[in-house]
Amino acid sequence: MSETPLFQMKGIKKYFPMKDGFKTRYVKAVDGVTLNFERGVTMGLVGESGCGKSTLGRVALKLIEPTEGESIFRGEDIYRLKSRDLIGMRRHMQFIFQDPLASLNPQLRVRQIIEEPLRFHSKQMKINMHDRKLVGKLVTDALGAVGLPPEIANRYPHEFSGGQQQRIGIARALILRPDFIVCDEMVSALDVSVQAQVLNLLQDLKEEYHLTYLFISHNLSVIKHVCDQIAVMYLGKVVELADNERLFSNPLHPYTKALISAIPIPDPDIRRNRILLEGDLPSPMNPPSGCRFHTRCNEAVEECSRIEPEFKEIEPGHFVACCKYSDGGCACGEGEKE
Ligand SMILES: Nc1ncnc2c1ncn2[C@@H]1O[C@H](COP(=O)(O)OP(=O)(O)OP(=O)(O)O)[C@@H](O)[C@H]1O
Ligand SMILES: [Mg+2]
Repeated sequence: MSETPLFQMKGIKKYFPMKDGFKTRYVKAVDGVTLNFERGVTMGLVGESGCGKSTLGRVALKLIEPTEGESIFRGEDIYRLKSRDLIGMRRHMQFIFQDPLASLNPQLRVRQIIEEPLRFHSKQMKINMHDRKLVGKLVTDALGAVGLPPEIANRYPHEFSGGQQQRIGIARALILRPDFIVCDEMVSALDVSVQAQVLNLLQDLKEEYHLTYLFISHNLSVIKHVCDQIAVMYLGKVVELADNERLFSNPLHPYTKALISAIPIPDPDIRRNRILLEGDLPSPMNPPSGCRFHTRCNEAVEECSRIEPEFKEIEPGHFVACCKYSDGGCACGEGEKE
């Protein structure tokens, strides 16, 4: 693989302050996440609702202010950039939202929607927005890239299906020729056949434009279908990271095992022992001590409530934060690899 990663998240934290009477308490939505993105890789981020996936995606691009950490894109920490430089850098880092219609201004025609980011970055991209022929061509090209005909440019977003709206959202991101795109639950609102089309489109665009994705989803089947690497998140932290094949063939964290066991198998003759997760996700305002997962873990021992496991590389590229694999972790004697 290449030398320096295109993008690095280092120890990123995002705490939301909440007033509680006279006291301020903090929702620890993201609590120290480190991830490296090699160019051309699709990194999946999976975990239950409320574990901090969207917050991580947003804070990594500084769409919201970070509490702590570094977000290094092409060797520069974007958290330290002056706002003008940050705007310049943003062009290369785009975010595609879950709800396609809500993310498209209903009062604008498709052409205006797709032109909007171009207008914003026109100086940097040295594009004369008065050159309507050129701008029209760029819009047509962006629409073409996502499989939409140029005639639709004069229509309004509500005239399209969810899948087409999502394509418009992708075209809007693509017109800036980004390197890195965060896709937040972008197919969750679509029905299954349309999901597959949009996922295949993402794959084609990745190859054509050498894109790198952070692909956020609570659906592990979708993640399995599109991602090269997978990060499993629990209550603000990444608990396991591995490449796609390895995560499914050798899941190490009990939480990952539970998520995998919940994927439906289409063959009625194959039975899988489902590991049921007891209870709800604990509050990120007051996360459990030690390993955050210990309150729901079917493999937990006494030590897990006291000792926070380190995020450790168990085999090349395969990291896990579990007392079973942690040097200073549980003294249960089961710390060796299985
Ligand atoms: N602006 C905010 N102010 C306070 N708390 C917030 C804010 N945004 C998110 N949170 C809290 O941070 C935690 C993580 O939320 P986030 O939306 O990142 O989760 P998620 O993993 O994306 O969930 P989902 O799968 O439902 O989209 C939640 O407890 C949420 O209530
Ligand atoms: Mg979310």
